[in-house]
Amino acid sequence: MPDQWVPPDAAMVAEQLKLHDRAMSASSCGITIADALHDDVPLIYINEAFTRLTGYTPGETLGRNCRFLQQDDRDQPELLTLRIALHDHRDCKIVIRNYRKDGILFWNELFTSPIFDDRGRLTHFVGIQTDVTDRVNAQAELLRRKQALEQALDELRETQAMLIHSEKMNALGQMVAGVAHEINNPVSFINSNLYSLRNTMHDLTGAYDELEALLKSSGGADQTAAAAAVRAAHDLDFLIDDVDDLLKSSMGGLSRIKKIVDALRTFSHLDEAELKISDLATDIQSTLEIARLELKDRVKVVLELERLPPIKCYPAELNQVFLNLIVNAAQAIEGSGTLTIRGHDEGDHVRLDFIDTGKGMPPEVMANIFHPFYTTKPVGVGTGLGLAISKKIVEAHGGHIFCESSITTGDEEGMAIVILLSPR
Ligand SMILES: Cc1cc2nc3c(=O)[nH]c(=O)nc-3n(C[C@H](O)[C@H](O)[C@H](O)COP(=O)(O)O)c2cc1C
Repeated sequence: MPDQWVPPDAAMVAEQLKLHDRAMSASSCGITIADALHDDVPLIYINEAFTRLTGYTPGETLGRNCRFLQQDDRDQPELLTLRIALHDHRDCKIVIRNYRKDGILFWNELFTSPIFDDRGRLTHFVGIQTDVTDRVNAQAELLRRKQALEQALDELRETQAMLIHSEKMNALGQMVAGVAHEINNPVSFINSNLYSLRNTMHDLTGAYDELEALLKSSGGADQTAAAAAVRAAHDLDFLIDDVDDLLKSSMGGLSRIKKIVDALRTFSHLDEAELKISDLATDIQSTLEIARLELKDRVKVVLELERLPPIKCYPAELNQVFLNLIVNAAQAIEGSGTLTIRGHDEGDHVRLDFIDTGKGMPPEVMANIFHPFYTTKPVGVGTGLGLAISKKIVEAHGGHIFCESSITTGDEEGMAIVILLSPR
């Protein structure tokens, strides 16, 4: 049998109310009660912690809606959540910006709850306010640090990738320079041997002609006929011409090899890993020689390199930039087109334009092309590092590199990568 309920006496009720009062006063959180039957839901109770938190006394708050704590900062999305919860008579927890009486901002974690009477009618709302400024600031700081760490990680990844790439380029440069050096010696002696061979051939044919003439002058008609028959039987006239042609074309081929070897040596500039005065036009020409395979016959190269002042630079590094730009331009040109390399002395700096008549780039591509790992080439074709490394190299030289669309060359229009370099 449950105990029968006995009505409490008045003294006990008064004692319990006092206890609730003391408990509310002792709370370290703000506690507020608002009148839900009144249109603007005014406050009818605030505890001492609310005054400590906000600086407002009961005299300054009772009878007012609590929104005054928001001052002019009313455009907070969380307020909509609160409004809906109050309207629907539901509990609600939000964190919003509030302002103390002295104007100082604090982050308020506000919990509101509806209070119903015995008949289930809404009469009041209770609100509990907690200052969570330290927590919010700590979270913001944590987020800031996380973002900084993520950014540092990204930069580390980029630097690592670029280091690997430039290590590869260095190794390649060393190999190229080594091979060029090794080829240089045999090419030189083959060249000189071919010259000697050509002279020897001249001497030999001269001597043969002399012998033949001697035979003709000293002998009779038979000997002259025999000499002519030998000449005809061995097709000597053709052989002599053919040997000369063969020697000429071999020497032409050899001078082509020599040009490539010289270009390889200039391009790799391995003996010049330090800052040195360099001639950009020569550097660009030697780089073009290296890129010949990429350009083939389909990309016409127009060089407009008017007298450029010497530049103090790391030539091997700048050549890497030139090679990147030339290869990119060649790849941007579908079918045939023109690559114009234009150089101007603009006083305090030299401007180099690498203009191609390729299909151009939409603005979103232009905005990203210097970002590491960004590539428009198919997977496996481009690393997305070429232009990022070029940018690093140019900037390490105190220069600038950027992209410009719609540059006119002759009667064509193209897109240009522009480099500005100071002679220093
Ligand atoms: C009991 C109670 C306590 C509240 N306490 C706060 C408070 O500490 N800070 C605040 O910015 N809003 C507080 N509010 C919310 C505002 O009084 C108001 O409901 C809110 O700004 C949305 O309404 P509005 O758009 O009419 O201003 C409280 C609301 C209630 C019912």
